[in-house]
Amino acid sequence: VLNGERKQMSLRVGVIGAGNMGADHIRTLHRFVNGGCVQAVADVDLARAESALASIDGGNDGWATADPGGLIADPRVDAVVIASHDATHAEFITAAVQAGKPVLCEKPLAPTLDAVLALRATVGADAALVSLGFMRRFDPGYAQLKAAIETGAVGRPLLLHCVSRGVSSAPGTTTESSVTNSLVHELDVVPWLLSSPVVQVSWQAPSVTSDSDSSFRDPQLVLLRTADGVLTSCETFQNAGYGYDIRCEVVGETGAVSLTEPTRVIADGSGRRSVEYAADWRPRFAEAYRLELQAWVDEIRVDRAGQARSAVLARLMDGVRAAAVAQAVVESFHHDGRPTDVKFLEDIR
Ligand SMILES: NC(=O)c1ccc[n+]([C@@H]2O[C@H](COP(=O)([O-])OP(=O)(O)OC[C@H]3O[C@@H](n4cnc5c(N)ncnc54)[C@H](O)[C@@H]3O)[C@@H](O)[C@H]2O)c1
Repeated sequence: VLNGERKQMSLRVGVIGAGNMGADHIRTLHRFVNGGCVQAVADVDLARAESALASIDGGNDGWATADPGGLIADPRVDAVVIASHDATHAEFITAAVQAGKPVLCEKPLAPTLDAVLALRATVGADAALVSLGFMRRFDPGYAQLKAAIETGAVGRPLLLHCVSRGVSSAPGTTTESSVTNSLVHELDVVPWLLSSPVVQVSWQAPSVTSDSDSSFRDPQLVLLRTADGVLTSCETFQNAGYGYDIRCEVVGETGAVSLTEPTRVIADGSGRRSVEYAADWRPRFAEAYRLELQAWVDEIRVDRAGQARSAVLARLMDGVRAAAVAQAVVESFHHDGRPTDVKFLEDIR
């Protein structure tokens, strides 16, 4: 099928933000997602938008722009992916919803709970248009952990141990932004795995690594207590140096189940057996991003025919819940690790 014909039959997606994540979503949408195509790319840095588009487009009728508002309003754009900086998400979600367009926004909805609650009030009854990029739900490993819990493979779950390590933190990362931007993945996936909301948190940290400036507490260790009584430890360590390493173990009454490192090759040599770590989240979660985008595109296309919505995609309220838990973690950090209840819980359960 020629590019032009493909576009006529496809959901035409406008992508806002052409940095690491946006460029990755653009490539994934173009190469691996059926029924969707990249129609336009917006970035305040126009050269980035142009280069992301050029990497896939082959010169047909897609366009690059420095005007995200114009992209959202354009009638040739059916749906919007937002992958610009965290602080811009709420504004673009609002504009997309007001234009009546489905939107898949990268996490988080906004950097603070206040901003998230304001967004929720603005979006109101149109919340069904909003999906959120908590892609770990689509990772085949996490999906198998959830299935193991639900089929009783480890008995009643008692403890979860989560580890998220990265090579190095982005410039300007703070203790708070590490919680709202990075730990937030655990704050969504843990209650999703357990089907139980986080009700209380507490924050701790050892001395910082020599790679980190001392105002950014890295690593951090956060305990989450869910309503079902399960206790989860979450290590988040952005400057771990050796690779991108995501772990999760569920310990239950009759056994334990863990993610394995999704590698396809083992190297033997010099008296050692070894596997390689991904450098960042893009290769580690490539399959999850693809399945997430495919579920989102499928849902929008079948929705028009009146069919079911994805049971896995995160929604606006999942983002609100995660933001409330993140806020409690930040509060615990500001109070020397005091156990802190998640506020607004009754309202957002
Ligand atoms: N789901 C995940 O695993 C995951 C991983 C990484 C990043 N993210 C999220 O994706 C988003 C982007 O992260 P990134 O790592 O690609 O950052 P990045 O800095 O590489 O890219 C962000 C891009 O947004 C553009 N931008 C900023 N403000 C804009 C505006 N007002 N209008 C249009 N474009 C604007 C910047 O010019 C830049 O090109 C963040 O919200 C981040 O939290 C999610």
